[in-house]
Amino acid sequence: MKQIELSIKNAFGVIDRQAVDSLTPAGESSLKKLTDGTGLGNDFLGWVELPTHTSASLLDDINATAATLRNTCEAVVVIGIGGSYLGAKAVIEAMSDSFAAYRKDVKPQVLFAGQNIGEDYLYELSDYLKDKKFGIIVISKSGTTTEPAIAFRLLKEQLEAQLGKEEASKRIVAITDASRGALRSLATQEGYKTFVIDDNVGGRFSVLTPVGLLPIAVAGYDIHALISGAADFEKVTLTGANDMSRIYAQTRNALYRAGKKTEILVNYNPKLHFFGEWWKQLYGESEGKDHKGIFPAAVDNSTDLHSMGQWIQEGERSIFETVLSVVEQRHEVRIGSDEANLDGLNYLAGKRVDEVNKMAELGTILAHVDGGVPNIHITIPQLNEYYLGQLIYFFEAACGISGYILDVNPFNQPGVEAYKRNMFALLEKPGYEAETEAIKKRI
Ligand code: PA5
Repeated sequence: MKQIELSIKNAFGVIDRQAVDSLTPAGESSLKKLTDGTGLGNDFLGWVELPTHTSASLLDDINATAATLRNTCEAVVVIGIGGSYLGAKAVIEAMSDSFAAYRKDVKPQVLFAGQNIGEDYLYELSDYLKDKKFGIIVISKSGTTTEPAIAFRLLKEQLEAQLGKEEASKRIVAITDASRGALRSLATQEGYKTFVIDDNVGGRFSVLTPVGLLPIAVAGYDIHALISGAADFEKVTLTGANDMSRIYAQTRNALYRAGKKTEILVNYNPKLHFFGEWWKQLYGESEGKDHKGIFPAAVDNSTDLHSMGQWIQEGERSIFETVLSVVEQRHEVRIGSDEANLDGLNYLAGKRVDEVNKMAELGTILAHVDGGVPNIHITIPQLNEYYLGQLIYFFEAACGISGYILDVNPFNQPGVEAYKRNMFALLEKPGYEAETEAIKKRI
């Protein structure tokens, strides 16, 4: 079995091997806390052995539900935010044709809503769907999150107006808590097909549950291979046969202790843009607490070398990079020869575009290391479901270990409630009367 690989040799300079190795006892005990459940937030460890415990019958049910939506819908809108959005979006974008949105042969189109409260976004989505056969997957673990609830109210009304209530209910699938929350009550009342998000799996760790798997299956991708990649990586991680997650966690903590406060996840493949968004949520929500934590940022190269490249090369030396490098591309494009050579590109004639990209990657890594930016390197053999499964599990396990080394609870997110309290007070939500009165005095 090929595996994703980690190299930390270009991380050394500001820190040395000893700084990483000195964190081995902390790394090992953190990994143990994930497996024996003795660490902070231990009621949210359902993701740790989830891949190997995912039943074939669940995957079959998800695939059958996806097939029904694929057969009946031109478009499927996935409604959700944060952990109920980013994992599916990341895998679908990584797997999809870059021009899927414009291709008539891609059916159904998988669209997203509820990840923002943009009025124009929702108007334009509704307008686009007005003459389309569409379905809805509504995802909310709590079942009470405002952004997806608004999008669902609007799109449910539209679907019912287009199809009638009974037909509409056959094209709506809800993914939520087994018994709690407004979405659970609504789904029961309306008779929707449902899938459950287990209590012990937090939103940002839920991509390998129906939250991610159903949208990914609707988009036509192989969820068995995704789970199999994650399960293989789970086994080698938990037995210690592969220490990649632990070494990554130790290295980034050693860099943080040496003053490197921002980690930039770098890709050289535009398909990985949303993988960076998923990763930002995973690490940002898990580690940014108690006034501690590495700030997770992401860039898409070589695009961003022409915007952020200057800052990274010569700005404040408080950053390090983690580069995602995809070895094999799906397609081959070679640069042709031109007799006139007016563009001066004949020195590249016969080369694959990927060869140029790889040299941009290598040249950038060397320049950044020379410029004082430590680099961690992750190699992905190919962008397919199996290796994406490995990569997801690798980052999840590393995140748990890293959060414990940092001595925070990696599995809660108390800080995300602050804006909600203010928003509800400002919108005069029933139950927030005292907050409304207080906030009005501040504005
Ligand atoms: O990671 C998390 O817990 C959050 O980002 C949630 O996923 C996000 O707030 C959405 O919550 P819910 O699924 O309850 O609507």
